[in-house]
Amino acid sequence: MAIQIDHANSLFTLLTKNSMYQMKADSLGTLVHTRYGKRTPVFDYSYLNKSCDRGFSGNPYSAGKNRTYSLDTMPVEFPVYGSGDYRDCALKIRYSSGASSAELTFDSYEVKEGKYALPGLPAFYSCQEDTAHTLIITLKDTTNSVFVHLYYGVLEEKDIITRAVCIENKGDSPVYLDRVLSVCADFQYGEYDFISFYGRHAMERLYSRTRVHHGVQAVGSTRGASSHHYNPFVVLADKNTTETSGECYGFSFVYSGDFLAEAEKDQTGQTRVLMGIHPENFCYKLDPGQTFTAPETAMVYSSTGFESMTHTFHKAIRNNLCRGKFKKAERPVLINNWEGTYFDFTGDKLVAMASEAKEMGVELFVMDDGWFGKRDNDFSGLGDWIVNEKKLGCTLKDLSDRIHNLGLKFGIWFEPECISEDSDLYRAHPDWAFKVPEKKPVRSRYQLVLDFSRKEVRDYIFNMMCKVLDSAKIEYLKWDFNRSIGDLYSAELPADRQGETAYKYVLGLYEVLENLNQRYPDMLIEGCSGGGGRFDAGMLYYTPQIWTSDDTDAIERLKIQYGTSFAYPVSTMGAHVSAVPNHQTGRKTEISTRATVAMAGTFGYELDPAKLTTEEKEEIKNQIKTFRKYYSLIQDGIYYRLTSPYEDEEYTAWEFVSEDKQEALISIVNTKLTANGMFSRIKLRGLNPDLWYSIDNTEYPGAALMEAGLPLPIPSFEYESWNLHVKAINQ
Ligand code: DGJ
Repeated sequence: MAIQIDHANSLFTLLTKNSMYQMKADSLGTLVHTRYGKRTPVFDYSYLNKSCDRGFSGNPYSAGKNRTYSLDTMPVEFPVYGSGDYRDCALKIRYSSGASSAELTFDSYEVKEGKYALPGLPAFYSCQEDTAHTLIITLKDTTNSVFVHLYYGVLEEKDIITRAVCIENKGDSPVYLDRVLSVCADFQYGEYDFISFYGRHAMERLYSRTRVHHGVQAVGSTRGASSHHYNPFVVLADKNTTETSGECYGFSFVYSGDFLAEAEKDQTGQTRVLMGIHPENFCYKLDPGQTFTAPETAMVYSSTGFESMTHTFHKAIRNNLCRGKFKKAERPVLINNWEGTYFDFTGDKLVAMASEAKEMGVELFVMDDGWFGKRDNDFSGLGDWIVNEKKLGCTLKDLSDRIHNLGLKFGIWFEPECISEDSDLYRAHPDWAFKVPEKKPVRSRYQLVLDFSRKEVRDYIFNMMCKVLDSAKIEYLKWDFNRSIGDLYSAELPADRQGETAYKYVLGLYEVLENLNQRYPDMLIEGCSGGGGRFDAGMLYYTPQIWTSDDTDAIERLKIQYGTSFAYPVSTMGAHVSAVPNHQTGRKTEISTRATVAMAGTFGYELDPAKLTTEEKEEIKNQIKTFRKYYSLIQDGIYYRLTSPYEDEEYTAWEFVSEDKQEALISIVNTKLTANGMFSRIKLRGLNPDLWYSIDNTEYPGAALMEAGLPLPIPSFEYESWNLHVKAINQ
């Protein structure tokens, strides 16, 4: 049983295949965290929790004269502000009196079969093959009015534990939630590193590893979306942990809005990890009888380095988070016209592009920004989701029919959450955009953000989208969002509820995405926010793939995709071959290298085929055939980072291995040319050491490839790349 309860000791143990998580309600009713780590015998691990009298660390009244009992120095499962724990807390309640001090004690618990779901929020779910259980521990405050329900989901075989929190007001006056984080994890011992993924537009999820030092190290977003700048996925790792050895803990926030993820090393050397909604734009008024639900965080422990943590997340995201037809169905190889034409196209031009693309084997044509309203540049048009037939020279149905007649599927771009001031929608409903009274709004890309916390706004946009989607055969939708939110103020909410706007906005976004999924179950939806500005587990519940970055430069993508791969599987990463010189960097790389890199993603093209040479077109034909041949190995296989683009200057390499270890594909990109370069070799991963494998007609023992390695080819030009197919020899 994945959840074991020792009633005599009030001990709660959660068990997955390789991990154990334990907490205990102690004699004073505090829910104390006792252990998170490798699965070991179920036993009371509270012996690890040392305590002693420390000056200025207060004692709860119920501890009497025991000066050694302090919440300031204990590992606390869900710390609340005002309890004498002066580290950053998970919860801050403001009572109607204005006071904010609270204390939480154990009230009750419940165990349920299956994994909980959260109303209106994305969450991991259990599949038929899973053994899944839910533990709900309820804590209550001293006024007997605020009840905190801590949710724990255990997917035993998938090796993943999820947490979420519901706060219920059972009192008779409102309370204000100034801070509700979803996870607190206290580690009493250890020297840790904090790994996070930072970046910027067109350069997302760069890897950062720093030693956890005294004080708080935090990443987060107050931009209304999870952001390009920091990702809501962090890792706490032992200072010696490597790709293939050592302990680490991954935390993935299943939410797409503001977030905070931090590690705090306290006075006793303990490390506290917190993750949840960023408190900056948040204050939730909880009326009597109301419940607030904080989003889920998924936690994975590995005792064998980052690689196994990654594999666990990849498997769970693919199987227990992504949904719908395209969770399993093959994704089409697409061509998107954005970098090929930007706003400058007609229906005929698009059909010409599609026709050439079809010749090369492309399967889906995507019409990007510019097909609606008055939209020949980014000054205007957002919000007017009406087909610009004058620009296209035909109706959407005609265009879609022409593309389908070529034998291609058809998809279109939307940016439903935004509005241009120069649009009919804005002229009709200026109050639908976020704006603060008596202040001019902050513009970004000349556009404003619609208040998706309002139902009438959501419904209006959804209906407009449906009209377009119903007017033609459309098999794919790209959902874009091209700015950070500012001027958070909802014209519909009273002053004391304005702090709910950002959260309600995200719930509104999820509602529209859910409705789209329900109404168009066969349509593939790709998420996007100026590239990877909202690449998070929350979005993956609604959109099984996300455009990874607006940076399509193959060499820069190595770092972007490397960082992204720590949590997110290849099947979620939108990646395209674009033209050279690259539009973001001006760099020139061979089309073969651009394809090698894009194949470590959902694979497609983003260029004008009319500008390709005959040789390039022939090469693209072969690339698509290769991708199709290895599709299942790439999309469903196990992904290994063989090198780090931060440590290995000359090559970046990765590998896909089939579950049965019969086959692998190694991709290598040369990143630096030098005269008389060093000899390099690469050690393969994940093969069966006892099998023999063939690579380019040469046979090797699996153990040799993994332990002695494979010499790397010597590059003959800059950024050369290689794909090596590894096949088990059946004796
Ligand atoms: C940003 C996206 O990331 C691009 O791919 C493209 O769709 C543009 N927006 C269109 O405005």
